[in-house]
Order: sequence, then C-alpha cells, then structure tokens
Amino acid sequence: MMSTATARGPSEIVLPEVKMNIHLPTKPVPAVVVRNELCTFKKAAGFVRHVEIDIGGTQMIGECRPGQALGVIPEGTDKNGKPHKVRLYSISSPTRGEDGKGKVIAVTVKRTIDEHWENNKLFLGVASNYLCDRQPGDRIMVSGPNGKRFLLPKDHTGYDYMFFATGTGIAPFRGMLIDLLESRSQSKIVLVMGAPYTTDLLYHDYFLRMAGENKNFTYITAISREKQNDGHDRLYVQDRVRTERDRLLPILAGPRTLIYICGLAGMELGIFQELALNLNGEALEQYLECDREALSDIRRWNRQMIHKQVRPTRRILMEVYA
Ligand code: A2P
Repeated sequence: MMSTATARGPSEIVLPEVKMNIHLPTKPVPAVVVRNELCTFKKAAGFVRHVEIDIGGTQMIGECRPGQALGVIPEGTDKNGKPHKVRLYSISSPTRGEDGKGKVIAVTVKRTIDEHWENNKLFLGVASNYLCDRQPGDRIMVSGPNGKRFLLPKDHTGYDYMFFATGTGIAPFRGMLIDLLESRSQSKIVLVMGAPYTTDLLYHDYFLRMAGENKNFTYITAISREKQNDGHDRLYVQDRVRTERDRLLPILAGPRTLIYICGLAGMELGIFQELALNLNGEALEQYLECDREALSDIRRWNRQMIHKQVRPTRRILMEVYA
C-alpha cells in the first residue's frame, strides 16, 4: 500500500497485491516462444522485437501484470564457464495476457549491438540476442514474475494517467493501456513516447489506432533527432509538456492524475523540471515537494537534487534505468 504526501486528490494509492518469484531464477521453468516479430519500422537502425511466450507449463498463468518483469535465463555459459545469470524483461502484455487467459505473455526486447571501445570489437548482448533469435516453438527457461511497485492502482478507474516512455520503456504502457481501455474506464490517458527517429517508434500503428478509436486516449510522440511531423524541432518527451501545454496542463493539474515514467534514467530530471516550470501551487505539489530555493532556479536542477531538494511524491511512479 502506498500513501500520498499531499492533501489533494486521492489520499492513498493502493496497488494490487501481486505474486512475485513464483519461480526463482535458481529454479527456472520451461516456457515456449510462440511469436516473434519486429516492432520498429523496417528501416530502423536498432532492432526491437515483440516476443510472445507461452507460460502454460508454469505456475505463473494469470499472475503476470504489465509493470512486472519476466526473468529469462539464456542457454549456455558465460566466459567463466558458469551458467548465464537471469535477465529481466519488462512485460508488455495486458493482465489477461495476449491470449485472454494469462497463458501467453509478451516482452519487448531490444537487441544490444555495440562496439567495445578498448579493441573495436563487436559486442552482442547475450540475453537480448538470444531471446530475439528464438523462433516460435523454441523452449526457453524463465523465472518470475518480478516487481510490485510499477503497477496500475487496484482501482484504476479512479485516476487519470500521464505515461512518459523512451525506447523499450514503452513496454509496460502497452499492457497498461490495454488493461485500461478494455475495462471501459473513463480515465483520461496520455502516452508520450520518445525515440531517436520516427522509424524507432514502437507499436506506433497500434497506438495511433487506439487513439483514433478511444476519445479518452491521447498519443504524442517526441523525436529527438528529427523535426516533428507537427513542425516542432527535435524534442525529448519532457518538452511535450511545454509544446502540448493546452492539452496536457488541464490533465496534469487535475487532482486524480498519476504520472508514470519508464525508460532512460536521464528523463526523470527533465520531466521534473518541465513540471516545475509549467505547474505551480497545489498542482505542482501533488507531484513534487521542492525546497523554496530549488524553485528559484529550476533550469539549473541536477540529478543529485532528486530525493533531496526535489522530492517526487507517490503520484509519480518510476521505472528507469541507465
Ligand atoms: P537521444 O539519444 O537523441 O539523445 P532509445 O532507447 O531507442 O535509444 O531511445 C531513447 C530516447 O530517449 C532517444 O530519443 C534519446 O534521445 C532520448 N533521451 C536521451 N536522453 C534523454 C533525457 N535526458 N531525457 C529525455 N529523453 C532522453
């Protein structure tokens, strides 16, 4: 159970009780890949794949929610001859799974392809490439689920939502969006998705279609290395708070809005700054408790100030990584 530090809006945000580590990484169980498809545009420089996994032979059926992660243990051994360690992948399917029965879940995996700066050699991420290479019918070893904090509230109809994602940080929001829309909730939902190029946007056609079919869902993109379709120059997700002020401020200022942030750790600071620059009084305090001094020079905030001079309240839920 979580409680807000602000007097405004819902006094507490109750998250659902979820099961964790039904299968430990030390005792993984077999599951079967049933679908594996590209979810970027074909021209994208990176490769991100939507991988569906049948967990029907495990105890995890119906127990995996978007915002939780699945553990995958790649085959083989590491350079020291030890079995590979578990890697966690964020679940992108809704609570009902891809199949409606919680038996087929999805993860959204980016192939790690890099160059070692010490010797100019190609580096291929072990687990991401292992998983992206699996074909339908292939067996993999899994564990989980993991995570209990980055979830939709138990009564998710009582809130409105601002989702900010960069890259594969979109994964939980795909599942959460389906959960929300299928429950016929009237919640307002805004998804702001950031990617380097338009071709890197994930599940883009799906989100466009959902926005067309559901009045309460708004989908906004922020492309960091290209001009936007709407004429704006290069943007990060947080810049959309400013460029889409008219649409977003009424939602952000609302007393029942929760902000979810998933993706690169760098974006949290930028989002906090844009909130502080565009909201004030109670509307801001419901998300951020800021020292008076900090508020006098918002543009100079740095990451070290987070949780010290700038403290997010329970109304901001974050899952970020370096
Ligand atoms: P850029 O790399 O152009 O600086 P991906 O995971 O596919 O690489 O996408 C991550 C996206 O997040 C990119 O568009 C990247 O922009 C952007 N990004 C990088 N740093 C930040 C930051 N501090 N705040 C918001 N977005 C960021």
